[in-house]
Amino acid sequence: MLRVGALMAEWAAALGLAQAEVARWQRTGLLHDCLRDAPPEQLRGEAPAQFRELSDAVLHGPAAAERLADSIDAEMADAIRYHTLGYAGWDRLGCALFLADYLEPGRKWDPEGRAALRARVPGEFDAVLREVVAERLTRLISHGKPVRPESVAFWNRLAGAP
Ligand SMILES: [Fe+2]
Repeated sequence: MLRVGALMAEWAAALGLAQAEVARWQRTGLLHDCLRDAPPEQLRGEAPAQFRELSDAVLHGPAAAERLADSIDAEMADAIRYHTLGYAGWDRLGCALFLADYLEPGRKWDPEGRAALRARVPGEFDAVLREVVAERLTRLISHGKPVRPESVAFWNRLAGAP
């Protein structure tokens, strides 16, 4: 979470956002995984009904958004709620969290490839976002996993579907 928060702050600053906005982006990154290690059965009970069928690994997003609802704004809540899935209704904050979560330097797989993508953000923000979403969906499909409608809708938005 510290690494994601730092990356979010770095990108917000590079985009020229005001100091309060930089802090807000950082806070979103710091909070996004606050329930990642909570027991799945507890998260399933806290998540809104439409998310209760999610797999254990991704339940922490919707559950955290519910838990934090009184202390964060709606845009931050959407970023956190859908950070494991993608969401067609996101503005830049949600997209940045999705990217930072995937590209933060602590993850073990393909460090060179992800460092190369990271170096292109925020200058090529939209192009990198499309590449990351395509890569994540391709991986799910190649492993025979289902793709959630939220993730498909997010991709369709990025791909310019009407
Ligand atoms: Fe997460």
